[in-house]
Amino acid sequence: MSEKKTVAVAIDGPSGAGKSTVARILAKELGFLYVDTGALYRTVGYAALQENIDPHDTEAVGSLLPNITVTMGYVDGEQRVFLNGKDVSDFIRTPEVSMAASAVSALPEVRKFLFNLQQDTAHRENVIMDGRDIGTVVLPFADVKIFLTASAEERARRRLLELVEKGTEVTYEEVLEDMKVRDYNDSHRATAPLKPADDAQLVNTDGIDLQQSVELLKNLILSSLKG
Ligand code: DC
Repeated sequence: MSEKKTVAVAIDGPSGAGKSTVARILAKELGFLYVDTGALYRTVGYAALQENIDPHDTEAVGSLLPNITVTMGYVDGEQRVFLNGKDVSDFIRTPEVSMAASAVSALPEVRKFLFNLQQDTAHRENVIMDGRDIGTVVLPFADVKIFLTASAEERARRRLLELVEKGTEVTYEEVLEDMKVRDYNDSHRATAPLKPADDAQLVNTDGIDLQQSVELLKNLILSSLKG
């Protein structure tokens, strides 16, 4: 029996480049499943915090992994993540969990733990998957690979607006500094560092708004799939 050939679009890039917003809209427009892989790393980070485990402690996180399950599902078309069967989607967006996710995502054991879930999903469904290593490691066979970026200053300005809207008191300088630290960590870790795949198309969204970014990527994806 021949396997159904699915279509995979990989969108990688640094924090704050707008990957998830653009990918979510595009997935709806194209009828693909949107997979936010950062949510999976966040779930592992959350699990570590729940167990009072230091997310940097390789050994302790490693011994946690055989005792947890991380799965995902879709409720009204929105991705939800489950830790040991419990929907934890509403608990993984805090600054503490962001830090924990960043720490556990540097551990090879954690990347290995989440690999099959990501790849199997792309074998079953047409996906737009966003993350840091999708085009390079998880879906090297993706039909379209996009590396979405913007200057640290532009990404910090966008993130500041989001935080201020949520009522968080923070300055532009703090957000920019945080952005630069995370960029450095993500692109200098030993395992699956953030970098464009050799065959990725680079898109810089400096100076273009969300709607323009969506249009740009949609045209890129459609013309790549045709060609
Ligand atoms: O995209 P995000 O901010 O939700 O990701 C949370 C953390 O997980 C971030 O520090 C980077 C890491 N991550 C990763 O290492 N690989 C991915 N494919 C997705 C996210």
